[in-house]
Amino acid sequence: MALVRLRESSAGSRETDVLTEGAEVAAFLARFGIDYERWTPDHAIAADAPADAILAAYGREIDALKTRGGYVTADVIDVKPETPNLDVMLAKFSREHWHDEDEVRFIIEGRGLFHVHPADGPVFAIEVEAGDLIRVPRGTHHWFDLCHDRRIRAIRLFQDTAGWTPHYTDSGVDKGFEPVCFGPAYVARR
Ligand SMILES: [Fe+2]
Repeated sequence: MALVRLRESSAGSRETDVLTEGAEVAAFLARFGIDYERWTPDHAIAADAPADAILAAYGREIDALKTRGGYVTADVIDVKPETPNLDVMLAKFSREHWHDEDEVRFIIEGRGLFHVHPADGPVFAIEVEAGDLIRVPRGTHHWFDLCHDRRIRAIRLFQDTAGWTPHYTDSGVDKGFEPVCFGPAYVARR
């Protein structure tokens, strides 16, 4: 996890800084109602294990989160460079939108970049990687891009079995930000 935010300097200009320490990231995100956790499986499991095995290995965390957040289903999504119609799929994620339910993702493999646009503050970016759990509350304006390797495998939890429905803001705010990932060497926890 790496989090990039804008902040006002003492001279009044805007500066960018990067948070990579887990507790610092979690504290920053909590101000916006976003949960960030690190999950470890009950037993060692390969990132390319079947979906059922992945869900079982993280069953304890999934069940606890379901109880906390009213999530009724969990699945595993796989996105790879060879995924059919990948560009069409990614274009749905990469425009600013919000949902009627929480967006919950636990990253098993690969990386991705969430941009979050709080109602009362500047946009910030969160790069997620394997082991990261993120919960973006319903109604939060955000968008999502893959990193350069266009690979992500993630557990998703849903409150509504109808699944993922975006409401686009058409604000154009997303066009002012390039989806720049730092990469695994940079975001390795210090
Ligand atoms: Fe979303």
